[in-house]
Amino acid sequence: VIFPTSSIARKYVMGIAGLVWTFFVLGHMLGNMTIFLGPEAYNAYGHAIVSNKPLLYGTEAALILGLLTHVILGILLSRENRKAKPKKYAVAAQNKKKVSTASKTMIWQGSIILVFIIYHLITFKYGAEYLVTYDGVEMRDLHRLIVEVFQSPLYVLGYVLCLFILGFHLTHGFGSAFQSLGFNHPRYTPVVKTVSWFYGIVVAAGFIVQPLYVYFFHQG
Ligand code: HEM
Repeated sequence: VIFPTSSIARKYVMGIAGLVWTFFVLGHMLGNMTIFLGPEAYNAYGHAIVSNKPLLYGTEAALILGLLTHVILGILLSRENRKAKPKKYAVAAQNKKKVSTASKTMIWQGSIILVFIIYHLITFKYGAEYLVTYDGVEMRDLHRLIVEVFQSPLYVLGYVLCLFILGFHLTHGFGSAFQSLGFNHPRYTPVVKTVSWFYGIVVAAGFIVQPLYVYFFHQG
């Protein structure tokens, strides 16, 4: 994990680390859309990913490094922002309220997403190892696991809520990452903002339809 010392360098590195996950979630969401093509397509897709070891390990290494960097710098940034707020003076604190509320929300959103990621990995990546064979090739039956997990309304609800938060985090994060990387120009800023909103909504909506589809159309 890199430890940049200036706050601008920190934001820069944090933005790049966040972008690794930003692009991963789009790819993950699109790949998982194979759920709409049926169990065989879904399982074959999962099997192709885990069979490509350089892609799998490369992606995992980038994700772990990206997440650690993003989380550590995010915690430092939110602590710095809190310290910068002059608590002794009520009026000054009130003036700063808007900024501190926004940054507080980012750290809370991030914390919920982190818990979601850990829980999600325990459920799926390290979940029940059901097996299925197509044309003599044995692979994990992830479709069966997904259908089983998303029979629970509470689980589906929790998922949908977390994905809403992820979408919100992306709409904020995408824009501020590009700003930290220097795209802060009167002409580009509104474009970046629109693209961020679009990106967050597309990723969240693309993920959200999947547990809903399983819940309403696959009675296990
Ligand atoms: C409807 C939403 C989602 C579904 C159904 C889903 C499903 C899955 C499944 C089945 C796997 C296991 C793949 C395997 O082991 O072969 C997986 C892995 C993973 N998912 Fe998700 N996922 C969803 C959303 C997300 C989100 C929002 C994130 C991140 C914020 C995420 C992060 C990951 C990561 C990091 C892995 C492990 C990748 C690896 O080992 O290289 N997933 N997901």
